[in-house]
Amino acid sequence: MADGNDTQAGDGRTNPNGTQDEGGRPGPSGARAGGGRTGAGGAPGGGGRTEAGGVAGRGGQGGPDGFFDRLDPDMCVVTAVAGGDRSGCLVGFASQCSIRPPRFAVWLSKANHTYRVARAAQCLAVHLITRDQRGLAERFGGETGDEVDKFAGLAWREGHGGAAVLEDAAAWFVGTILHRTDGGDHVGFVLDPVQWGEGHDGPLLRLSDAVTIDAGHPVD
Ligand SMILES: Cc1cc2nc3c(=O)[nH]c(=O)nc-3n(C[C@H](O)[C@H](O)[C@H](O)COP(=O)(O)O)c2cc1C
Repeated sequence: MADGNDTQAGDGRTNPNGTQDEGGRPGPSGARAGGGRTGAGGAPGGGGRTEAGGVAGRGGQGGPDGFFDRLDPDMCVVTAVAGGDRSGCLVGFASQCSIRPPRFAVWLSKANHTYRVARAAQCLAVHLITRDQRGLAERFGGETGDEVDKFAGLAWREGHGGAAVLEDAAAWFVGTILHRTDGGDHVGFVLDPVQWGEGHDGPLLRLSDAVTIDAGHPVD
């Protein structure tokens, strides 16, 4: 485990979403439910033909889902601790957002128990999990802290600032919260990594592996 602010994160990761699947995949359940979800979906026919032969502009049928639905990000489990509460949820909306200094942003749904805890937290822990850890994804993405203790029977320990670090994660970091920004039905948390580690080997769990999980706290 390293500690401090002196590392250069992000080498080789400056082209997010460089690997893409065939597309046609539904978005994250709960986080990006349904079509026309961007609010850009007005009357069809508002766009014009681009030179590349696509349809551009506002109000095309289905909105920008043709873009969003092609994304297949690695999934994270984000945990938050504050005021004696502990929470965590599965997150698909997450990415590195600065190289120097290293920064990472996660987006939490305002509907989630995790968001309510994160609002009062000083830092968040972000974990990558592997494809063979689907059980963890189901626990954190398919249950809500409003009803269950997701940490019961789970191997975790206290990290920087009291953060809840999952022992079996493939890779993780604790980041102090620098900014919160309202993105609509999700709020972005920009994180400054201060503590990190690696563990479990194997291919990472991606959205396409988790999309069949019914969100414990759907947005709609
Ligand atoms: C595939 C998938 C992707 C998700 N992506 C996000 C996300 O990016 N942000 C978020 O806040 N919730 C996301 N969720 C929803 C939460 O993980 C889920 O509603 C969880 O049960 C909330 O738990 P909580 O109420 O204890 O916080 C996703 C769920 C699934 C299944």
